[in-house]
Amino acid sequence: MDDAMFALAAKAMEKAHAPYSGFHVGAVVKAANGRLYAGCNVENAAYPEGWCAETTAIAHMVMDGETRIIEIAVMGRGDALVTPCGGCRQRIREFAGPEVPVHVCSPEGLRKTTTLGALLPLSFGPENLA
Ligand code: THU
Repeated sequence: MDDAMFALAAKAMEKAHAPYSGFHVGAVVKAANGRLYAGCNVENAAYPEGWCAETTAIAHMVMDGETRIIEIAVMGRGDALVTPCGGCRQRIREFAGPEVPVHVCSPEGLRKTTTLGALLPLSFGPENLA
């Protein structure tokens, strides 16, 4: 992960609208065009209706006409690694193969790099419907 991706994830995390959980998350996807798309989590008073940082980032990418993710970074605080939730793993899967690196970060730095395939093995994806 390069410095630009890390810096953008940190900036995105600052934008989080998370007044209910207090848990701020930033995410960045790098698309096949080389561009970075950032997102934060956006909560609301009807708690289950909020969404994750990864989802915001993916929406920005799709709105820019891109549909291939080549790298992802997620940033959050706390002792436990902030890995994408189950729903986001599937959302990422729509646009990424199992080899795509997922960088798990805290504001202090990179904590772990894994892959989408490790996070979502034997996944169901667009190929299944081809
Ligand atoms: N959250 C994310 O934005 N991404 C993750 O990968 C894990 C969880 C958000 C959802 C919710 O706003 C808050 O973190 C607490 O679950």
